[in-house]
Amino acid sequence: MSVRFEVNGRPCEVAPDDRRTLVEHLREGLKLKATRFGCGQEQCGSCVALVDGQPRHSCQLEVGHLQGRSVATAESLADSVEGRALLAEFERLQAAQCGFCASGILMRALAFLRGAPDGSREAIAQALEPHLCRCGAHPRILAAVQAAWLATREGR
Ligand code: FES
Ligand code: FES
Repeated sequence: MSVRFEVNGRPCEVAPDDRRTLVEHLREGLKLKATRFGCGQEQCGSCVALVDGQPRHSCQLEVGHLQGRSVATAESLADSVEGRALLAEFERLQAAQCGFCASGILMRALAFLRGAPDGSREAIAQALEPHLCRCGAHPRILAAVQAAWLATREGR
């Protein structure tokens, strides 16, 4: 029997013994290139996608274990109010310097916007802790997530 799941609302089917990781399937199987492969060891956060709304490291998740799950990647950001707010604020504040870490950060930020009652800088910094940014853009990234959090609360 096949393993069936969704990626950005689109049905996917793989064999139960498929040992490929989710990031491999996204990038090579589905040609969705937003999700990045960095360390491969759950250390950098560049591969984060949402699985049933929760941030997961797609570099360590085998597709054969995704039966019935719903996966969301950065390609789907424009499909939601929160995702559009993040895209707008990241652009307005020129928050991301590289395209490598950004999609993982954006997906974790999306889960944060949907779930967190506290949009303080401290809460955002803590939520983004699993993500490495080595270029000095972190203060702008925090500001952009905070602005997006506010925008969604104010219905902008
Ligand atoms: S590639 Fe998955 S955490 Fe670095
Ligand atoms: S914005 Fe990607 S490493 Fe800093």
